[in-house]
Amino acid sequence: MTQSRMVISAMKIFLPVIIAAFLSSSCSTERKDREGLPPAGGKDAPLAQTPVVKQMPGDPASGRLVYEKHCHYCHGKSGYGDGPVGIALTPHPANFVENTKTMGKSDAELFASITEGVRREIGGEAMTMPRWKGILSEKERWDVLAYVRKLSQEGRVKNKRGLAGDGK
Ligand code: HEC
Repeated sequence: MTQSRMVISAMKIFLPVIIAAFLSSSCSTERKDREGLPPAGGKDAPLAQTPVVKQMPGDPASGRLVYEKHCHYCHGKSGYGDGPVGIALTPHPANFVENTKTMGKSDAELFASITEGVRREIGGEAMTMPRWKGILSEKERWDVLAYVRKLSQEGRVKNKRGLAGDGK
């Protein structure tokens, strides 16, 4: 058998396997969790490194306790990015009420930011949010995100009524 024939017969065996693996990965149930996220790496990125976020329903009441301990001094008690430390940062940390671009992100994306932290370079200056993985449990991170969503919602209702800024 010549070498090229061997390659062809090997392809006949492996091609269906590769196609099947490709199809099953693109239809997997985890796909839903990644909705709205940018594709993980290039198309050559190893599948094992694809971060898969398992969604958990957060409890805003428990999340509030976490928020008032760890987040309020930057993001502000009502989420306007105006906590005592946040005020000193330029630009201020995410404003959960008025920053529609940030709050338009999916839960999976915001959870990933809370977990891994954020570093953003702005005109030579960098502003960072610490990574909360290791400080907060996974459940606490989902709870605090649920509370952030609640603050965001409440703040927007207040803003609509022209009461902006009164909820600090
Ligand atoms: C040291 C100040 C600081 C603390 C404390 C802090 N953050 Fe942040 N946070 C930031 C900064 C800075 C950003 C980036 C702001 C931006 O991109 O507009 C940010 C961004 C975010 C975002 C938006 C991420 C995104 O993908 O755009 C979320 C959600 C968030 N923080 C949640 C939290 C939660 C929850 C806590 C408490 C567990 C917390 N932060 C504590 C400074 C802080």
